[in-house]
Amino acid sequence: MILITGGAGFIGGNFVHHWFERCARLGLPEEPVVVFDKLTYAGNPHTIGEHLQAGRATLVQADIADREAVRQALAPHRPRAILHFAAERHVDRSIHGPGEFIHTNMVGTFSLLEEARAYWNSLEGADKDGFRFLHVSTDEVYGSLSDTDPAFSETTPYAPNSPYSASKAGSDHLVRAYHHTYGFPTLTTNCSNNYGPYHFPEKLIPLMILNALDGKPLPVYGDGLNIRDWLYVRDHCEAICQVLEKGRLGETYNVGGINEIKNIDVVTTICRKLDALRPRADGQPYESLITYVKDRPGHDRRYAIDPTKIQSEIGWKPAETFESGINKTVQWFLDHTDWIDTVRSGAYRDWLDQNYAERA
Ligand code: NAD
Ligand code: DAU
Repeated sequence: MILITGGAGFIGGNFVHHWFERCARLGLPEEPVVVFDKLTYAGNPHTIGEHLQAGRATLVQADIADREAVRQALAPHRPRAILHFAAERHVDRSIHGPGEFIHTNMVGTFSLLEEARAYWNSLEGADKDGFRFLHVSTDEVYGSLSDTDPAFSETTPYAPNSPYSASKAGSDHLVRAYHHTYGFPTLTTNCSNNYGPYHFPEKLIPLMILNALDGKPLPVYGDGLNIRDWLYVRDHCEAICQVLEKGRLGETYNVGGINEIKNIDVVTTICRKLDALRPRADGQPYESLITYVKDRPGHDRRYAIDPTKIQSEIGWKPAETFESGINKTVQWFLDHTDWIDTVRSGAYRDWLDQNYAERA
């Protein structure tokens, strides 16, 4: 089995779905997962509810910085791999309160590495040789690009600009050092902006979809010309599966969607999709809700990924274009008001108490 930290979050939750669908698609045995998640405001067991109820996923609610809890999870489950998604990851929140980011992303990753290393040292033979620790990180560790700079590659120097990206850079360095110093079998992926189902509605794309549907302003930071590379979340999940299978130990792999788009173009695309799928009652286009607001302090201008390494070494490339991915995403949010309501109301915590207290 595999242990997934942060598996009740956006990417980790999508990964759990992808994992079981992939097992079925490739005719592989259904390998169970343990989700190790603190269930912060961003964690939602509803996201993986069907797998928890079916018993192929088990939820351990705990903090990765709690070494005893990590030890207690590793000992009985004996995973062949740890996939480390858990993090505080919203840049705006890191500006208002960086402490949680240092706690989870740096202290938490350190604690997890220490316990994982002790566990790995207790393994023998093929179990030890086959063990993997895959660390999920971000392209933000490389800093900001100008319009003419080449895209980030795995050798781009680190230059993180926000407390969030600095804390992720710190975690990346720890992972690298554990491989270099202890021979611990690590893999690191640095990806661009994910989007898709189960995206917490504080991030650009889900926020714009839900604000538009509510008839609220669509707040675009600064001049709206910042550029992000957009990666459909299921493409990212498949990349992680392939790096887990084929990645070289100690290496990092950049994962991108090959979709560099200005923020304002992302927002207008969403508006036009909604105009077609859910026209406003007053007949006005959703674009009339766009409102330029004060910029984010230290706002990185552009991110872009050079995917040469993962394409040539691993053979992975994204399946979705931005057009196909955003169509799926907008439709998913229109179809899943139940999930949206649980996230917004906080009722998912009640659901947790109701369904999982006795299974803890
Ligand atoms: P998310 O906030 O949706 O999910 C994070 C999960 O981690 C949540 O379920 C939360 O409850 C859990 N968690 C937080 N602190 C914890 C702790 N101390 N102990 C245990 N669990 C804890 O985040 P996401 O968007 O799914 O991101 C997952 C990973 O991918 C992060 O490491 C992030 O840095 C990285 N990443 C995300 C993006 C993106 O666009 N979302 C892009 C690049 C990299
Ligand atoms: O590049 C990968 C990173 O992408 C991840 O490491 C982070 O975890 C993830 O949160 C994301 O960071 P961003 O800051 O790029 O994502 P966000 O959705 O917050 O913002 C995307 C862009 O949209 C950014 O330029 C800021 C802008 N924005 C965002 C919000 C929430 C707005 O213009 N208005 C908004 O209301």
